[in-house]
Amino acid sequence: MPKPPPPVDLKPYFLTLEDVDREYGGALRWREFFGNDNRVEIDVGSGRGLFLVTAGLAHPETNYLGIELDYREGRRAARRLQKREMANVRVLGANVHEVFENYIQPHSVDAIHVYFPDPWWKRKHRRRRVFTDHFADLCATLLKPAALLHSWTDVEEYFGVISSLMDHHRDFEKQPKPKERPAEHDLDYRTSFERKKRQAGFPIYRGCWQRK
Ligand SMILES: C[S@@+](CC[C@H](N)C(=O)[O-])C[C@H]1O[C@@H](n2cnc3c(N)ncnc32)[C@H](O)[C@@H]1O
Repeated sequence: MPKPPPPVDLKPYFLTLEDVDREYGGALRWREFFGNDNRVEIDVGSGRGLFLVTAGLAHPETNYLGIELDYREGRRAARRLQKREMANVRVLGANVHEVFENYIQPHSVDAIHVYFPDPWWKRKHRRRRVFTDHFADLCATLLKPAALLHSWTDVEEYFGVISSLMDHHRDFEKQPKPKERPAEHDLDYRTSFERKKRQAGFPIYRGCWQRK
């Protein structure tokens, strides 16, 4: 049997926490990590990276970090970044809770995006959800004053949970609901899940909150 080819080296586009520990001393200091002082936005559960690629190309003056638990998805997104040699976008293969708790300096993030977080439908699995009251507190700690948190989903019940956490959080102020506009082409969606769900006819619930 021929040996399978070695995995493609996706550094620096895809990194793990072991890489961050080894190469950055266990902390994401943005100037060191991105090599500049530009704004930093985080995409939580970045999946296949449609948002990272679109936003990263449209705003080369902004740095984007995707955090993705599933290495296969994270590496797939990183291949898209590598192909385009995008210096302002990286994917970190990790659990967002661990990253937010231990790796990022307080008040150093300009926006957080949480698109189509896994719903974990069964009640006994609900505690696996990313968006919890603790997560909202971590976001409040990491975001700069006036920074935005965006969250969209097709799951009405989960959106209700997110909205009630965020609408009543002392550190956030609700912003006007982002409007939906018709897609102009097949990739004209915020994320792959938005495309999938809208094309299947599901309504999308969109929220935006500003850090006070
Ligand atoms: C339903 S997918 C949505 C992907 C993408 N945001 C989109 O809209 O196309 C949810 C993603 O969140 C990732 N995820 C789930 N829990 C996570 C966690 N604790 N930390 C980081 N990523 C997580 C999953 O692996 C999955 O790729």
